[in-house]
Amino acid sequence: MFPSVNPTTTKAWQQLQQHAAKMKQVHMRNLFAEDAQRFEKFSLRFEEILFDFSKNLITEETRALLLELARESQAEAAIKAMFSAEKINATENRAVLHTALRNTSNTPVMLDGQDVMQDVNKVLQKMEHYCSQIHSGALRGYTGKPIRYIVNIGIGGSDLGPVMVTEALRPYWIKGMQPYFVSNVDGTHIAETLKKVTPEETLFLVASKTFTTQETMTNAMTARQWFMDSAKDEAHIALHFAALSTNEKAVKAFGINPENMFEFWDWVGGRYSLWSAIGLSIALTVGFDNFKALLDGAHAVDQHFTQTPFEKNIPVIMALVGLWYGNFFDADTEAILPYDQYMHRFAAYFQQGNMESNGKYVDRNGAAVPYQTGPVVWGEPGTNGQHAFYQLIHQGTKLIPCDFIAPAISHNPIGDHHVKLLSNFFAQTEALMNGKTPEEVRAELEKSGMSGEALEKLLPYKVFTGNRPSNSFLVKEITPRSLGSLIALYEHKIFIQGVIWNIYTFDQWGVELGKQLANKILPELQSDAKVTAHDASTNGLINAWKAMKK
Ligand code: F6P
Repeated sequence: MFPSVNPTTTKAWQQLQQHAAKMKQVHMRNLFAEDAQRFEKFSLRFEEILFDFSKNLITEETRALLLELARESQAEAAIKAMFSAEKINATENRAVLHTALRNTSNTPVMLDGQDVMQDVNKVLQKMEHYCSQIHSGALRGYTGKPIRYIVNIGIGGSDLGPVMVTEALRPYWIKGMQPYFVSNVDGTHIAETLKKVTPEETLFLVASKTFTTQETMTNAMTARQWFMDSAKDEAHIALHFAALSTNEKAVKAFGINPENMFEFWDWVGGRYSLWSAIGLSIALTVGFDNFKALLDGAHAVDQHFTQTPFEKNIPVIMALVGLWYGNFFDADTEAILPYDQYMHRFAAYFQQGNMESNGKYVDRNGAAVPYQTGPVVWGEPGTNGQHAFYQLIHQGTKLIPCDFIAPAISHNPIGDHHVKLLSNFFAQTEALMNGKTPEEVRAELEKSGMSGEALEKLLPYKVFTGNRPSNSFLVKEITPRSLGSLIALYEHKIFIQGVIWNIYTFDQWGVELGKQLANKILPELQSDAKVTAHDASTNGLINAWKAMKK
């Protein structure tokens, strides 16, 4: 196991604190003016992805200190530990091997004396075969009609990845296949979905690592009942239900034939599981070859991550730049802003990826951390965000580091849409960095014919301080491969940050308490008795609900 290091005790942390005080006096505009090579110095390329991090409040000294922090935090040893299957998810006593799921070069990955690649490849082959049978029509519904609808029933990591990826890869959808995703236990979600599909043509994928999650099991039972209302015969379930899970016993108990179970393992974290059998809805929607290309793109990043020196290692730099603002500039949130409509769930996906991974206050020694850990992650696609929340990013009192992501080439090259989209993409990061000085505003107002008191009154509102940081990812085209790469870059960013914060990135005990309490409250809601067992607010709310629903 790699050593546990409190980052604040490192030399680099102390130096970064002093350095940050100095950097708070610096304007990025001047950093660009002083160094014609700044873009070259602070940008990196990976295949067809350009990562520009020059519009950050960093200098070469900042970078050197941050890299030193990564070294002192034993990030290199941590990467080795993860890839060599050490049980780095110690609170669950599990290895963290989502990278093995996309290890398309097939080098052995030994866990407890066994090469996990054998199992990984077996399931991939089973997925490939299943996809080809569904797509060719060899496997059909119980009345002989081909399967046209895929309904993935899952939540959290068993939903967000497949939703995000299928949406991002819409141009690759196989003609005639239509995926739907049901996650919320709110009956509305499944009810509205079932209105769009037919029992004869639908394949339900019950996606749950544990196969015990309340929301998923409830939705799956409702789907089963709905299906049986038409199909009548239990034997037809085999054609219309498959399970994506690690829990064979529970899958059997639900009534799904183990032959229709696509397995994965406890060393795959839910929010890192789209590469596993959980990705079956992706493969069925875009085709197995495209799913494979997604894995290839991620695997290429894994190789970059494990083989590239830290100064040129994109996930490491992403992690360090993010941490710089969170720990030294008091930034609490990060925005992810894809200028690609198909990527509209990308921020939501990494909201879970990041916040469930690094939303922790206890370090790897069991002590409360005296520093900030994971940020609040949020975002919407550009340009919609521009007309919603960018005002605060430009002129608010909070520092919000932003990631801008855009494809160079659109899948829908209609008229001048894409150049207009990209003009916004480029303009926003420029505006955030440069801002607009009082002198510039004055000149502009004067040019428009304004002067005197009116001008002075309006002027402060039109000034932009600028100096607001952003990263830009310019991707040649959003393809299965480049998307796989992008996802893997963000995954490893999260990992490196967790290592430096000295927390356990791959558990999620924080979601347990709410689940436990919901289970306790459920029977109370099912009886008419007045509830008194909770605090006054919770009792009051429950009893008010009981009165209201009458
Ligand atoms: O939200 C907690 C969580 O455990 C996530 O980590 C996971 O992705 C989700 O619930 C769903 O869990 P499962 O796949 O076991 O149904």
